[in-house]
This record gives sequence, C-alpha cells and structure tokens, in this order.
Amino acid sequence: MAVMNAPFEQRRRTPTEAQIRLAAQCRDGTGPQDRGRSTVRASAYVCPDRFAAEQALFRRHPVVLGPSAMLPEPGTAMTHDGFGAPLLLLRDGRGALRIFLNACRHRGTRLMDAPEPVKEPVVLCPYHAWAYGLDGRLKGVPRPETFPGLDKAAMGLVEVPSVEAGGLIWALPHRPDVADFGYAEGPLGADFDALGLGDMHLYARRTHRVQSNWKLIMDAFLESYHVQRLHQNSIARFFEDGVTSGDTVGPHMRSAVARVGGLEGVDLADWSALRRIVTYAYQLFPATVLVASPDYVNLMVLMPQAVDCTLVEDFMLIPEKPMTEKAEDHWRRSWALLDGQVFGTEDFGAAEAGQKGLSSGAIAELELGSLEQGIRRFHETVEAALEAALVSAQR
Ligand code: FES
Ligand SMILES: [Fe+2]
Repeated sequence: MAVMNAPFEQRRRTPTEAQIRLAAQCRDGTGPQDRGRSTVRASAYVCPDRFAAEQALFRRHPVVLGPSAMLPEPGTAMTHDGFGAPLLLLRDGRGALRIFLNACRHRGTRLMDAPEPVKEPVVLCPYHAWAYGLDGRLKGVPRPETFPGLDKAAMGLVEVPSVEAGGLIWALPHRPDVADFGYAEGPLGADFDALGLGDMHLYARRTHRVQSNWKLIMDAFLESYHVQRLHQNSIARFFEDGVTSGDTVGPHMRSAVARVGGLEGVDLADWSALRRIVTYAYQLFPATVLVASPDYVNLMVLMPQAVDCTLVEDFMLIPEKPMTEKAEDHWRRSWALLDGQVFGTEDFGAAEAGQKGLSSGAIAELELGSLEQGIRRFHETVEAALEAALVSAQR
C-alpha cells in the first residue's frame, strides 16, 4: 500500500515517551525477551461455565464502545446493544457526550433504535411521548396534570458512567459503583491523542459474526508469530518476522511491531517516520484491539455473545475525509485488504478454525512458544480478574 501524505495536523503531533521507548527496544533488541514456553488450557475457550463467569469481566471493567468519530456531530444520538445493556449515546448541542440506558422513565419503553447516528433535538418516547433533552433530563410530559406531584428533575434518563478520552468512547454499563477510567484518561488517552485518534474520520465500520470464543480472537492480536505464515498472501511482506516489543498499562497491553525498512538511523521523535516503520497495537482489557498502521487506524470491539460466538465491530479511521477519487480508491483498497482479507478472512478464520479444533476435545492444552507469551500474559490477566470478581461477589 502506498503511504499517503499525512495532513498537517498529524505531522505536528509527537509520539509519547512510551511509544518511543517501544520503538527503540524494537530497534535495539533490548525489550523484555521471552525465552521459554507455556500453555493455556483448552477449556478456557470451550467451557460454557467459564464463559458465564467471564461475563463479570465485561461488568466490572470499562469497555470501549467505539471511536468518538462514530458519533461526531453535536445534537446527535445513537444506540448500542453489544454489551447486553441497552445504551443510548447522546451528544448534546455543545458536543458533550453522555450515555444513558435506552429506557423511558415512565414505563420502561425502549426509546429508540439507531445503530447509526441520527440528528435529534430531543428524545421522544414512542409510547406516550415523554420528551428528554440530549442531557438526559425529562423536559416534557403530555397531560402533566395526570401526574400530580411528579418531580420531573428526578425523572431523567438513567445515566451510565462513561468517558471520552483519546478519541475513544468508554463505558461501564452495569456497575456504576466500580467506575474507574484512570487508564483510559491517563496513559492510554495520551498515546491515542499522540496518534490523533480524536480528530480522525470514520471511513467505514462493519460488524463481523465470528464463530469462536472471544479470547481466540484476542490471541490473534497478541503474537506476531503468525504474521509471516497466516498472512503470507496479504500483509506479511510489510513486516519483519517477530521483531517486536511490548509492555503493559495496568490490565491493558501495548506493542510495537517492526515493519520492513529497518529502524536504523530513524529519528524516533519524527512521528511520520516512526509510524512508517513501526505498527503499534493495543490490546485493551477485556476485549478491544487497536492497530495503528502508518496512515490509518483499525479499532476492533469484541462483543462476546456465546462461548463460541463473538461479534467484532471493525472501525477504520483515516486522517481526513477522502476528497478525491484517488484518495477514495486508496482507502477502499486499504479497507478491503484489512477488514475483508487480513482480519475478516485470515485472523477471524483462524479463530473459527481454532474453535472447531478445540471443541472437538482433541487437545487439552495449547502450546505457546517464546513469540506467543503475550497470550499467556493476557490469560493470566483474565484469570486474575475472574478471581477478583469472585472474591468481590463473596463479600
Ligand atoms: S413509556 Fe415512555 S412515555 Fe410512556
Ligand atoms: Fe493477524
């Protein structure tokens, strides 16, 4: 793929210290090197009881719903149902985003169905026309004299804790009592601001139904061992084999993968040069992947539906809206390559094949080599979070 010129705004941005450190470790081979092997139990992917227990992860940890660019305009609304709770995302006239449960305070009716953003001055319940402002406040009740003493101020939509940081929308739909967005607003937000995520244009989004456990999909983004093999006919030629570095940000993981071209002699503070030779990937706990290619970003939000079924919404963000047919053609081809082939066919296909093999009971444990220890670390984080959820449930 040709690399298009980054717009002025993006050229002015600088990488964070962490992003520079990972690139330097890639270049010098000084990152933490995994040498040994480890295993993961097959039951982690196929056991329905394990899957049921894992629901706690999506209730106790903030989840990414999508990029800010999926709801960019002031005065707009959209719905989101991928994590079980019916959510209503409202961006008010001043551009502030808040998230509410998509249920009327009168008799609980679902207020709207809008998987794509709609311009709305108010949210009007279809049943008896109670009207809510885009700040969630109850504004109007028809025949108000039939509700004597109703305190309208106390009857706003039920708000869900959320934050918009670094160009991502995070929410904690089920447990307002444990809401903590420290990583989203802190180090991760800084990295995503450095990538310019908040100013990017949403070129395309697509939801894939993948017949595999959600962790098999995460696994595909936690190791680079497969890149030269599974992706031999697509992106393998852009990458060095297994030249990577990585670290953790709380429960989240972050990695840099060297692209062909070499890091020798590159000014690591020169963001455009750096992004041409390093692909950054973020594995956001519990189940979101962000891949920053040289001139665009893919965000994949995993929404587990069953032990062997996961919805994956893939968003492609580009620096600016394509203005010419040439630019449109460039992005169309990038989207077809990444969403259609690399992720949609190769990575998700490998996850589905993995689910088939594991559910046959053929092997009790998965073998992980030294290039795959990110998977082991991810599973340890999952196991620790499950343990913490269990302890808190017993209290
Ligand atoms: S249920 Fe919404 S107005 Fe009656
Ligand atoms: Fe892959």
